[in-house]
Amino acid sequence: MMSPTRRPTLLAVTLAVPLLAAACGGSSSSGSPTAPTPAPTQSAATFSNVRSQVFQPSCVGCHTSQGRSPEAGLSLDAGVGYGNIVGVPSRGNPGLSLIAPGNPDGSYLLHKVEGRAGIVGSRMPLGGPSLSTDLIDLVRRWIQAGAPNN
Ligand code: HEC
Repeated sequence: MMSPTRRPTLLAVTLAVPLLAAACGGSSSSGSPTAPTPAPTQSAATFSNVRSQVFQPSCVGCHTSQGRSPEAGLSLDAGVGYGNIVGVPSRGNPGLSLIAPGNPDGSYLLHKVEGRAGIVGSRMPLGGPSLSTDLIDLVRRWIQAGAPNN
């Protein structure tokens, strides 16, 4: 006696679930959770990423202690690069460190790759092309994170 009366109810639920799912899917597809964000393409703000994505491809060709003299006394080679820039006064503006941990505005190396007004000499990399905004942002985020040696 019970099961014949339940069947129509179960049938109604079975029919209703796909309809509800379709309604929910329709509304969530226009919501923000599926909107693209820049986060997945950002590299982690580590020194190893700064070295492999900025210094190695764009800087060590000139700023190297291997073979020829490092430009402006600045070697950015792996192994010596960190100690040559973090907390080290720049030559172009001795009032600023090349990299001041936690302080992008006080970091002369960032000023040089951004080509800020007030730098001595040229925007880096010398002769261009300039770094992409993503790579400049990587350097800035690494400085903001405290310029860890990681
Ligand atoms: C084609 C050679 C060349 C390349 C490539 C190059 N530099 Fe330079 N760099 C120089 C020369 C020459 C100077 C000194 C003249 C000047 O400052 O414009 C210099 C100066 C600097 C200074 C100033 C140092 C100080 O103490 O004042 C910084 C910082 C710097 N470069 C960073 C970089 C970074 C970071 C890159 C890579 C993104 C880079 N350079 C790529 C040749 C180069």
